[in-house]
Amino acid sequence: MRIVAPSILSADFGNLERDIKMLDRSAAEWVHIDVMDGVFVPNISFGFPVMKPVRKATSKVLDVHLMIVEPERYVKRFVEAGADYVTFHHEACADPRAAIAEIHAAGAKAGVSVKPATPIEAIFDYLDELDLVLVMSVEPGFGGQSFMPHSLDKVRALREEISQRGLNCLIEIDGGISAKNAREVFDAGVDAVVAGSAVFSAPNPEQAIIDILNA
Ligand code: DX5
Ligand code: ZN
Repeated sequence: MRIVAPSILSADFGNLERDIKMLDRSAAEWVHIDVMDGVFVPNISFGFPVMKPVRKATSKVLDVHLMIVEPERYVKRFVEAGADYVTFHHEACADPRAAIAEIHAAGAKAGVSVKPATPIEAIFDYLDELDLVLVMSVEPGFGGQSFMPHSLDKVRALREEISQRGLNCLIEIDGGISAKNAREVFDAGVDAVVAGSAVFSAPNPEQAIIDILNA
């Protein structure tokens, strides 16, 4: 399975509806939504008010990536705002099981993300409860950074663990993905790739999505 999740962090916010409609027509199955609070990461992006027009403009899967402290306080509201997947950071959450239960109770799928320095084994304790693991291949906070190759070792270890336990959990990777490295990334066992600048800086974003899928 190959999924592309274009990140609207790199979209044109003055023309957000146009950009979301483009994604809605495109071969991308998911739309990735990066929420940053300026505390967990040194950048602030957007929050609930942006979810509404996005949800209105597309029926694609909304893949929300929360880069915020105390995510358990807000996960339910993101589900109510239309998120299909809500992913929070392992490093930001004191009780991941409770946050996952809250997301599930609200009717969405639950994901956890790990920063580059966090060993993937840190989440193995509650892996059985997850629908998605998002491996960061850059330091969270900004689009347009270079891919960190060591993230693929984490993907391989995670793939091994998921198949050994016979789980249904998807693996997503985020940061520095383009058609140039997508093949290697999918081959390592990734199901879904996030792509921000590779899609929105391309002269033809819809083609860029196809190029990543066919890499
Ligand atoms: C970074 C975000 C990413 C970012 C990816 O903190 O989580 O989703 O938008 O951007 P690119 O694809 O440009 O690295
Ligand atoms: Zn992201």
